[in-house]
Amino acid sequence: MNYLEKAFSIGGVKIDPPLALAPMAEVTDTYYRSLIKELGGVGLVVSEFISAEGLTRKNDRSHQMLTFAENERPVAIQIYGGNPDRMDDAAAIVERQGVDIVDINMGCPVKKIVNSGAGSAMLKDFDKAARVVEKIRKRVKIPVTVKVRKGWESNDVLPLLKRFEEIGVSSIAIHGRTRNEAYTGASDWQYIAHVKANLGIPVFGNGDVKVAADAIRMFETTGVDGVMIGRAALHNPFIFRDIAAYVAGTPLVGNEVEHRIDAMQRYLAKIDGAPQLDKWKLHKARTVIGWFSKGIPHGKDIRLGLQDITAVSDVQRLLDATRERMLFGPADSAA
Ligand SMILES: Cc1cc2nc3c(=O)[nH]c(=O)nc-3n(C[C@H](O)[C@H](O)[C@H](O)COP(=O)(O)O)c2cc1C
Repeated sequence: MNYLEKAFSIGGVKIDPPLALAPMAEVTDTYYRSLIKELGGVGLVVSEFISAEGLTRKNDRSHQMLTFAENERPVAIQIYGGNPDRMDDAAAIVERQGVDIVDINMGCPVKKIVNSGAGSAMLKDFDKAARVVEKIRKRVKIPVTVKVRKGWESNDVLPLLKRFEEIGVSSIAIHGRTRNEAYTGASDWQYIAHVKANLGIPVFGNGDVKVAADAIRMFETTGVDGVMIGRAALHNPFIFRDIAAYVAGTPLVGNEVEHRIDAMQRYLAKIDGAPQLDKWKLHKARTVIGWFSKGIPHGKDIRLGLQDITAVSDVQRLLDATRERMLFGPADSAA
C-alpha cells in the first residue's frame, strides 16, 4: 500500500501527502516552515507555539510569530495558555491572520509552561481542557486541532480525546509519551494505534520517526491517518522528500552534502531578508546551519567555521568554500 497517496482532510483542509512538520519552539517559524515546504514532501506545517497571553496582551514578539508565507499552505498556528478566558481570544486573533488551522498545545512538558496551567498540564484536568477547546470551537470557523501527549503521568488521554471529537475538533496529533517521560524512553506507538482505533477524526502519530523507513512503519503499525515529524527534520530537512523517495524506491537525497548545502543556502537567504535584528540572524544561522551540517561530509569544518562568523554573509562564504573543497579538494569524511 502506498500510504502517501492516502490524503485526508482536516475540516475541509486537504492534507496531501499525509505528513506534517511538528511544531517546535524557536524552530518552526515562517522561514523554517517555508524552507521545509520548498524542499518538498510535506502536507502540513505547524508553527512554534505562541503564547495566548502574548497575543491577547498585544506583545510584539508574539504577534510577529503569526507571520506566514503563502507557500506554506496549508499552515497551522499553534497556541498555548493556561487561562481559559484568553485562549479563545487568541484563537480569534490567529483566525484573523488568515491561516488554515488553529492548533492547541496540550503537550508541552516544560516546567515554566505547566506551572501556568498550560501545555500538558491541561491533561490533568479533563473538564478544564474540554471547556477551553469548546470555547475555541465556538469562537472560530477555521478547523481546530489539538496536539497531546499520552497523559500527564500514566493516565489515559483517550476519554478526553473522545470529548474533543464530540465538541467538533477536526484532528488530533498524539505524541506517545507522558508529560513525566518528557523525551525519555520511546514514543508508545501501540498507544497511538489504540487512540486511532477509537476515534473517528483523523489522527497524526508522533514521536521517534528518525528516518524515512520509520514513517512507513508508523503508518503500518498504528493505522494513523498522518505521520508528524519533529526532531528528524532538524538534522535532515529533506526527511519528507526522503519518505517519498523511500516509497518510490529511488535514492534518498537528505544525507547528500550538495543537497544539504543547497538547503542551508536557501535558509540563509530567507533569514537574511527577514526584518529581524542582525543578532537574531546570526543566532539562527549558527543554530540551524549547525543542525543541518550534522552527519554529512565536511560537516565538522562547517561547524568549526561557524565559530568565527560575524554576519550571515560569512556563513554564505563558508558554504561556498565548502562546496569548492567538496568538488575539487581532498575528500574529508569528517561528519
Ligand atoms: C526543540 C523542540 C521544540 C518543541 N516545541 C514544541 C511546541 O512548540 N509545540 C508542541 O506541541 N510540541 C513541541 N515539541 C514537541 C514536538 O512537536 C514533538 O512532539 C516531539 O519532538 C516528538 O516528535 P519527534 O520524535 O518527531 O521529534 C518540540 C520539540 C522540540 C525538539
